[in-house]
Amino acid sequence: MLDRLNKKPNDLSAFWMPFTANRQFKQAPRMLVAAQDMHYTADDGRKVMDGTAGLWCVNAGHCRPKITEAIQKQAAELDYAPAFQMGHPIVFEFANRLAAMSPEGMDHVFFTNSGSESVETALKIALAYHRARGDGSRFRLIGRERGYHGVNFGGISVGGIVSNRKMFGTLLTGVDHLPHTHLPAKNAFTRGEPEHGADLADELERIVTLHDASTVAAVIVEPVAGSTGVLIPPKGYLKRLREICDKHGILLIFDEVITGFGRLGAPFAADYFGVVPDIMTTAKGVTNGVIPMGAVFVKKEIHDAFMNGPEHMIEFFHGYTYSGNPIACAAGLATLDTYQEEGLLTRASELSDHWADALHSLKGEPHVIDIRNIGLVGAIELESIPGEPTKRAFSAFLKAFERGLLIRTTGDIIALSPPLIITKGQIDEMIDNLRDVLRMVD
Ligand SMILES: Cc1ncc(COP(=O)(O)O)c(C=O)c1O
Repeated sequence: MLDRLNKKPNDLSAFWMPFTANRQFKQAPRMLVAAQDMHYTADDGRKVMDGTAGLWCVNAGHCRPKITEAIQKQAAELDYAPAFQMGHPIVFEFANRLAAMSPEGMDHVFFTNSGSESVETALKIALAYHRARGDGSRFRLIGRERGYHGVNFGGISVGGIVSNRKMFGTLLTGVDHLPHTHLPAKNAFTRGEPEHGADLADELERIVTLHDASTVAAVIVEPVAGSTGVLIPPKGYLKRLREICDKHGILLIFDEVITGFGRLGAPFAADYFGVVPDIMTTAKGVTNGVIPMGAVFVKKEIHDAFMNGPEHMIEFFHGYTYSGNPIACAAGLATLDTYQEEGLLTRASELSDHWADALHSLKGEPHVIDIRNIGLVGAIELESIPGEPTKRAFSAFLKAFERGLLIRTTGDIIALSPPLIITKGQIDEMIDNLRDVLRMVD
């Protein structure tokens, strides 16, 4: 039961919270009850600045009227239509809009409901594509250490975050991993792309030589690794990966679940870095995080390879009950309108110098061992308390929330990714608040 007046639930036990220290939370709950633009309202009435765009998803800020109205209208008009063997106009309209703004040649869109599902979909498309072309011996998938590709079995197999993998058995077989690109000894306190580490892409040659190119289907990386603590690709690294994939007929998948929809100052990281993958996974910002949705972008050649066989036959045995759900599509179209009207897909490029200056002004504050930034993403890495990894950053998270700022932490790294509507004044306010927090935590 909810005490609607006070907006407080009377029992916290039934809900098993995701990626949460449940026991800690339930002793001292942090509840959000409303949101508008850059701020949440906590259940005690405090305003809390959103330093993380929710979970890297609310790119246009909260409760934007156009998106809210579109959802309300669509829910009253066509709430649901079967996704298999049936269509509804808005899903085609939304796919066309997305394809039109996508990097060169990515003409087709497959809808999912989350980043994790987008990843599973992309991996399955890659495997099935080779098989559809009569090249079915390409079954291997290459991910990267410290990569995050959601929580489903394919995603944790190609992902490289140990705690997300170690409890769950053998995972997918036929998977190998590139080394991560985090080189603090050489690149600490770099603004933008680091100088050192492009040669780490050559590890792909080594892996391909080990397994033979004829067995490798695809390589998947986040252009900027987000959830592991904002690892920015060294200069030239992604181009080199592209070249090696081309040389060996391997598909390159960019997981743009975080970087998609303006986070770096261009619509996609592929645009920002000038490297076009074969398949691109997105979610989060596709609907401003408001309705669950993901979209996998696919090059025409890949899509077309499936379009053979008898015409009454299903070409790709994959899909979700909610793929292209009408309400999600309405939210997505209104989100794209909002991004376009307010120039949000490129706004991070206008703010990135100010953002970098503000973030790097934290150099020299207690425990800070690295600061990195790109677009409107930043990370502040703290020295761990000996024997108690994650504790210092978690204390900073609790202290920041107390002081009206929502940040995100992973290990002992503070990650920041505010809504793209943030003003310069709000950036300064956020960083000043964080400076005080860093001075307060042990
Ligand atoms: C790069 C990347 N891929 C996949 C996912 C998983 O998305 P979801 O939580 O919507 O399943 C995330 C989530 O943060 C992500 O950052």
